[in-house]
Amino acid sequence: MSELLVEMPPLRECAEWQEFNAAAKAAQVRASDLRIINAAGLYIDISAQRHSFALMETGQALLQARRFDAMRSDMLQGRVVNVSEERAAWHTMLRAPCPVDEVVAERHRMNEFVRNADSERRWRNIVHIGIGGSDWGVRLTVAAFGYARTWRTVRFAANIDGHAIEGALSGLDPHDTLIVLASKSFTTAETLHNGERAMEWMRQAGVADPYANLAVITSRPDLAQKWGAKSSHIFKLWDWVGGRFSLWSSVSLTTALAVGADVIAGMQAGAAAMDDHFASAPYIDNAPVQLAMAGIVNRSVLGYGSLNIAPYDFRLGNLVPYLQQLEMESLGKSVDFNGEPIGVPTGPAVWGMPGTDAQHTFFQWLHQGTEGAPVDFIVCQEAGHHWPEHHCGLLANCLAQREALLKGKTYDEAYKECLESGIPEEKAQWLAKHRVHPGGRPSTLVVLPKLSPYTLGALIALYEHKVFVQGVIWGINPFDQWGVEYGKVLARGITEELSGRKQVDHEKHDASTAHWVRKFARGMCGG
Ligand code: F6P
Repeated sequence: MSELLVEMPPLRECAEWQEFNAAAKAAQVRASDLRIINAAGLYIDISAQRHSFALMETGQALLQARRFDAMRSDMLQGRVVNVSEERAAWHTMLRAPCPVDEVVAERHRMNEFVRNADSERRWRNIVHIGIGGSDWGVRLTVAAFGYARTWRTVRFAANIDGHAIEGALSGLDPHDTLIVLASKSFTTAETLHNGERAMEWMRQAGVADPYANLAVITSRPDLAQKWGAKSSHIFKLWDWVGGRFSLWSSVSLTTALAVGADVIAGMQAGAAAMDDHFASAPYIDNAPVQLAMAGIVNRSVLGYGSLNIAPYDFRLGNLVPYLQQLEMESLGKSVDFNGEPIGVPTGPAVWGMPGTDAQHTFFQWLHQGTEGAPVDFIVCQEAGHHWPEHHCGLLANCLAQREALLKGKTYDEAYKECLESGIPEEKAQWLAKHRVHPGGRPSTLVVLPKLSPYTLGALIALYEHKVFVQGVIWGINPFDQWGVEYGKVLARGITEELSGRKQVDHEKHDASTAHWVRKFARGMCGG
């Protein structure tokens, strides 16, 4: 066991952390700063984050004290970094220019499958069944590139709520539909239940061989075959690929069928370019490192509880839930590699929605709320459509919101504005107080030249590596997710009670849970 423990003291005991912490408190966000990093074709503007020479220096010392170089090399070389599951986290291999043979072989199998389906114009409809990392990446990429390119109808079913699978299947022709079932473990209840409904739907429609219309992506081909899947339609995922890092693999089969395998290849190329940048750029010019350190200042020093993601691009709506899982399932932990309490605030809550919708939803809170939140603005310079005035409005709003958060508005400015708009002096003195903006609220701006598979791949890899760096500093293993298991175990027991297969165990439940299990069980079992 000892060889698995990482020789590293808890962050709070690290002298370099104390110095970084002090430098961060003394640093400022300055409107005069201009700090933009160019990485893999993206522009990462961290000008509106706290900055000082001392913060840079102490940040460098902290990274060295936390053995960042060695940890980064371990991850990129495929060594064990997921110490609690004794696995590598080698998602970078899936997009490497020269992957290992088994990755090349699976990539060829998937591309062959897509080529055959396309040449035969087979399966006008795709129903993707999966959840979490087996779902969000596919939703993100199909929405980003799908509406203009696909001849296929693509539906998704993730939730165990019967309405999800019912809605996904409704109106489709079972004879012309492929069910893509993605599940790394092949044990996820939601996915297996939804898969069973889909196969029943096929059988009830008289499809002679329903499993000929099923493709599975999993690390357990044995379980998939037992379930009925044909081995030629099973695509392999490896244990050393975390679910939330798996969109680079055949989990993206639906995306390839929907918008083309070239989209996957393009994303892999963009991600590989960001991998190179991450592996070689000096700390001060390393985008994932600088994004990570800014996030640690905001979370662990300044105490911001959350991070807002504001993609100013209608096509990137699913980027928010994608990053929620990537960040919160990786960093929503309070003990370090060695199981010791970390003692500083870690992994923020991640939330958001595309701008400009967000401005009409919660930007009031961001501007004038008592605490606000750091914002990651993401925008594409090129519109990708033919209405320049729309894109001009989008860019203007993105920059304006960011500027307002940074600059704020003083009482005097607000008072002068009120008077200039003709408001009488006494009312202006009162109204101006309501129009003050505190300002100094941190943000990052990520600019993609345009939305392409390459730039989206680079963007996702940027966040993957940022999460990894924050894990190293906090001492968190970003690649396990023990916190999601407990609820699943309790759900299995309550399912047994609700379905009447087991008596309600009053000793085990709190009063409220016992009350509702009894009440719902009666409804279930007609009691
Ligand atoms: O949320 C827990 C989790 O294990 C995620 O990490 C994973 O992406 C998801 O469930 C689905 O798991 P699987 O791909 O094994 O069905």
